[in-house]
Amino acid sequence: MQLLDGKATSEKIKVEIAEQVKLIQAAGGRVPHLAAILVGNDGASETYVNNKVLDCRQVGFESTLIRLPTEVSEEELLKRIDHLNRDKNIDGFIVQVPLPKHIDEARITLAIDPLKDVDGFSPASVGRMCLGMPTFVSATPHGIMELLRRYEVDTEGKHCVVVGRSNIVGTPMSILMSRNSKPGNATVTLVHSRTPNMAEICRTADILIVAIGKPNFVNESMVKEGAVVVDVGITRVTDTTRPSGFRLIGDVEFEAVKDKCSFITPVPGGVGPMTRAALLLNTLKAQSMSKEL
Ligand code: GUN
Repeated sequence: MQLLDGKATSEKIKVEIAEQVKLIQAAGGRVPHLAAILVGNDGASETYVNNKVLDCRQVGFESTLIRLPTEVSEEELLKRIDHLNRDKNIDGFIVQVPLPKHIDEARITLAIDPLKDVDGFSPASVGRMCLGMPTFVSATPHGIMELLRRYEVDTEGKHCVVVGRSNIVGTPMSILMSRNSKPGNATVTLVHSRTPNMAEICRTADILIVAIGKPNFVNESMVKEGAVVVDVGITRVTDTTRPSGFRLIGDVEFEAVKDKCSFITPVPGGVGPMTRAALLLNTLKAQSMSKEL
């Protein structure tokens, strides 16, 4: 078994990005600038957004965090998005989700300029990804593809089973893995909560990508000998022995499954850090695209 070490790989990517930033500065350019809008004070969202700001600092990007109260109106949020769309100093921005219930998430996503949509959530970005056109691929699928690429995981002609059909992970992963690309060129099966024989299908996977959000969902009997397992799950469970008060559990029973695998991602330290690195890659790309306009 070889660990797909997202922590080490993401650190390598961040060093590469920091080198790019130095080159931009040496050429007299402006460093990439990421903005994030955080509505309300959900604990997990706070952590995610703060980490994004720290990541920017680590690679030499500029960052702007816009905090808005839970009660902010949809119109006010749309106004802030419009400002960011027009701001020539901002290369890309994200609106952290989930948003409060009174805000229509689809309307917000549609308002983001696709050229600044570093989350890759907008219909324009998703459509371009489906058609294999240049675009921003959302951070988690982008990070997973980068991890598979850097470990030279052979995906061509393999059977890839994706567990979960979310807009952010399962659906884009199924498209990316079936595309004529490297990694890619796999035969893909997407399974979800209504799939009756899920365990049986998972057992046929050469590559198993699990993004269902149920801790320890995949057990040893669902994994084929020699499979590549990518665990996207990060469920927080209370753990009073930790300073944070919680720990993260993946969708895969790592200890029970690991010895059967050719490659496996740990949780934490697998997909999570790659997701963070991918947002930085997208922001760097946004800046180089804005220069071409
Ligand atoms: N909430 C959880 N993950 C993400 C993400 O990647 N982007 C945004 N905008 N919100 C999130």
